[in-house]
Amino acid sequence: MINIALFASGTGSNVQALIEAQKSGRFQANLVALVCDNKQAAVIDKARQAKIQVLVLSPKDCASRQAWEATVIDFLQERQVDLIVLAGFMRIIGPDLLQAYPQRIMNIHPSLLPDFPGRNGIRDAFEAQVEETGVTVHWVDEGIDTGEIIAQAKLKIDPNWGLADLEAEIHKIEHRLYPEVIKEFIDQMKTKGAVQ
Ligand code: GRF
Repeated sequence: MINIALFASGTGSNVQALIEAQKSGRFQANLVALVCDNKQAAVIDKARQAKIQVLVLSPKDCASRQAWEATVIDFLQERQVDLIVLAGFMRIIGPDLLQAYPQRIMNIHPSLLPDFPGRNGIRDAFEAQVEETGVTVHWVDEGIDTGEIIAQAKLKIDPNWGLADLEAEIHKIEHRLYPEVIKEFIDQMKTKGAVQ
């Protein structure tokens, strides 16, 4: 079975959805670690309740950004992590981590990329009054939300919705899509004979 590390900075509704999906067998992998850069984040408790080992460390508490990455890489390698799943992780992944896990770091973004990248994908789509938005899962590269797209799910925006309604609908899609994409990734690894 593959080992997955989750990275998150905030509420952790996606992390919770992934924990539940894994428990109910929607994908078969070990959730071996959470990396969190924010001591106050609600996601920390969610992971601990699921008995996932947590590294809480901000780059601000390290001598340098590179030192932060080195600590994180050690933590991941000790746990033989195969795949990194970003779920609301609010930092750019630096070159050392990218090099250590090439095409092995995925992210979920709450818009149909390349439209509305950045921190406020849901609000930006809402304010632009587009008819349709959605969710994207993509590989992480050195840019912001620019990596190769793995999967997208579309959502028609009901003109009667407020921003909160749109947020709720987007999160529902995220919580369904991310486990599906992870299952698909594991199936592909199995086809290649890379996991049993
Ligand atoms: C999600 O909307 C995700 O797409 C974005 O950050 C948000 C995290 O939400 N990258 P949560 O912490 O999983 O509830």
